[in-house]
Amino acid sequence: MKKITLTLIKADIGGYVGHSASHPEIIALAREELLRSNLLIDSYVTACGDDLQLIMTHWEGVGNEDIHKLAWDVFLKCAEKAREMKLYGAGQDLLKTSFSGNLRGMGPGVAEMSFEERKSEPVLIFMADKTEPGAWNLPLYKIFADPFNTPGLIIDPKMHEGFAFEVLDVMEDKSAMLKCPEHLYDLLVLIGSPGRYVIKNVYKNKPKMIAATSTTSRLSLIAGRYVGKDDPALIVRAQHGLPAVGEILEAFSFPHLVEGWMRGSHNGPLMPVRVKDAHPARFDGPPRVMCLGFQIRNGKLGVPRDMFDDPSFDLARQKANEVAEFLRRHGPFEPHRLSSDVMEYTTLPQILKELEHKFKASEHKRIKQKLKRLELEKKVKKSHAFK
Ligand code: F6R
Ligand code: MG
Ligand code: MG
Repeated sequence: MKKITLTLIKADIGGYVGHSASHPEIIALAREELLRSNLLIDSYVTACGDDLQLIMTHWEGVGNEDIHKLAWDVFLKCAEKAREMKLYGAGQDLLKTSFSGNLRGMGPGVAEMSFEERKSEPVLIFMADKTEPGAWNLPLYKIFADPFNTPGLIIDPKMHEGFAFEVLDVMEDKSAMLKCPEHLYDLLVLIGSPGRYVIKNVYKNKPKMIAATSTTSRLSLIAGRYVGKDDPALIVRAQHGLPAVGEILEAFSFPHLVEGWMRGSHNGPLMPVRVKDAHPARFDGPPRVMCLGFQIRNGKLGVPRDMFDDPSFDLARQKANEVAEFLRRHGPFEPHRLSSDVMEYTTLPQILKELEHKFKASEHKRIKQKLKRLELEKKVKKSHAFK
């Protein structure tokens, strides 16, 4: 059977108002542009905060140049309109000027997978704003490795063999495959540092099949400076030997702390929200995640369901608000503000540099330096004496 490919490509091409949301006219333009293409089986355009999300199905496979170019051109067109409309940060995530075969390293985030469509193919697509790809580490661990979240891992014979996690080291650009449950502790060693190690893909061990894939770009590493957070997206297949829809959603009932929020520089809770609420507000946040459910049929996406539009997530939202309030009271202090080594990827180093001249060495350090100098002078004199 021919494999279909589900591709999500996202970029912040301009915000309305500020960095809070996407303008409806931009979303409509992207929709029109994708509908015009004859490369796609189907498409759905939405936005999470200021990130425009292009969800596409096609037969062209993963990493296909034509599909990536299509998305790039749509973003360019939307960025042009965003500039005309004077939207905020128009073209923000489009870091390169010309397209060269693949979107990798160009700014937009890409999550895509090819699979043989099952008898029934439920897929959940998560999209987050004001956070980064490592934000998926904890929920992905819970969904695919933690029986306290996913009883199917122990109850369902089709899932009992577990899942393998492909973990990307975003600093070194290399990856490792860790099979669970065997390598569960090793997995946690890595993914507990979500700023560096990010789960890129999850595979079912037996029979081997793709179960989840995420966007993993680090904009600051591409641009060499802070250009906003890499608000991530995640695709998860569900049911029939994979975690149930409810097991997948359950992982988001705990609004865990993620990096991002105001100026990409603060820890905050990841709040699961309805699509209509996927617009950061307080302190440019708190970071939020929305989820669309698709029941794919012959590559057609059909009408999506807003999966967090349910009272069973009210408690998580309330908890997120409480945690947000608690953290906010810390103002510019860690651990609300990110630690200095992580701040290296924000605009803070510019300020630190300007502060450098204010620093004077301590008395103790000055004496030590003087002694060192004298010793050096002595050595030099001695060496001259031997000449
Ligand atoms: C975080 C984010 C916002 C901006 C903030 C300042 O990812 O996008 O919190 O960092 O609004 O934005 P500028 O520097 O554009 O005024
Ligand atoms: Mg923005
Ligand atoms: Mg954003």
